[in-house]
Amino acid sequence: MVWSLWLSVYFSGDANPSCLSPLDDFMKSVAHEAIRLRSYAGYFPVPIAGFSLYHCLDVPRHRYRSEGSFCVPCLRTYSPLLFPEMPMQVLLCPPTHFDVIDQKNAYMAGGSRIDRAKAQEQWQSLCSALEDAGYEVETIAPAPGHEDMVFAANPVFVGFHQDIGKFIVPSRMVHPSRQREVPFYVDWYGQRGFKIVQVDLGADYLEGNGDLLWHPGWSRVYGGYGFRSTKFGVEKFGKALSKLKIPVVPLHLVDPYCYHLDTCFCPLNNEAVLIYPGAYAAESLAALRPLWKRVHELTADEAHKFMGNGIVANGRYFTSHITPHLESILCGEGLAPVIVESSEFEKSGGSLFCMKAFLP
Ligand code: ARG
Repeated sequence: MVWSLWLSVYFSGDANPSCLSPLDDFMKSVAHEAIRLRSYAGYFPVPIAGFSLYHCLDVPRHRYRSEGSFCVPCLRTYSPLLFPEMPMQVLLCPPTHFDVIDQKNAYMAGGSRIDRAKAQEQWQSLCSALEDAGYEVETIAPAPGHEDMVFAANPVFVGFHQDIGKFIVPSRMVHPSRQREVPFYVDWYGQRGFKIVQVDLGADYLEGNGDLLWHPGWSRVYGGYGFRSTKFGVEKFGKALSKLKIPVVPLHLVDPYCYHLDTCFCPLNNEAVLIYPGAYAAESLAALRPLWKRVHELTADEAHKFMGNGIVANGRYFTSHITPHLESILCGEGLAPVIVESSEFEKSGGSLFCMKAFLP
């Protein structure tokens, strides 16, 4: 309380960050200290209208490789404890062979042409944004003839469990060109000591971290099905994970523009999730809501522009597009929006979230 009072006195004058006095460095350390205290004490009150602790910190509020910032002041600070055990390493695949060849999802219907140079630039911006947020970026070698290999979230499910350590479950992808990516990824993880948990899927499909998403802290998995992963695929996966006492919540997807769960479901921390309700069958929506303290809803337009396919990274939310509505949700959750463009990948039905896999 004393901290907040003191901060409000300090900022009661000019709240424009570019006009902060030479006390800036000192204030940065105060803000860091306040955030640290908040992570122990729960919610930290910041009674400063129109101002945020982010103004004292080096959190970027900008657009990668472009002009301008969209960020409005946040009234809450982020708490690292709300996203516990966040991995700090991330795997990406360069878009060297990226292309739109056949139609695998509704976004690919137009058969859009890819601007390779732009795709490479956008991918590089994503790497830089992750590195700036403190992540170590690892890459897998792109294999010729695998036009979707850039979507590193799909060929395996990556996880962690205290009994077996870091593990993967190889996917069984619906499209043959994507199925051929799986052995490359399995090798990559195998060489780095990940345990490979094989689920006998038979004729069913399972599409990795495209459809299977962790609750922060590795406590539960949400499994989308209906377009790519099949209901029984998710069920078989659930049976395998029940041996590790990890519950899997099946979610029936019904909107072809939200064909993977990661297009309509994004945990912001362990209490709040961003969803697009129109993507779910009624009973799945009803099953999902009580599992979260705060459920924030995207509009159809926001979801179909991949605003729910963002990346939560160390107090930031990387997204390719933003609206004032999404911005206020993010700020309410203490996340600083960072724009990273992904227009070339959107032509293929994917955006930022599916271009990476966090490594435990
Ligand atoms: N063209 C790719 C496909 O249809 C895009 C994958 C995007 N991944 C995602 N998790 N949404 O498989």
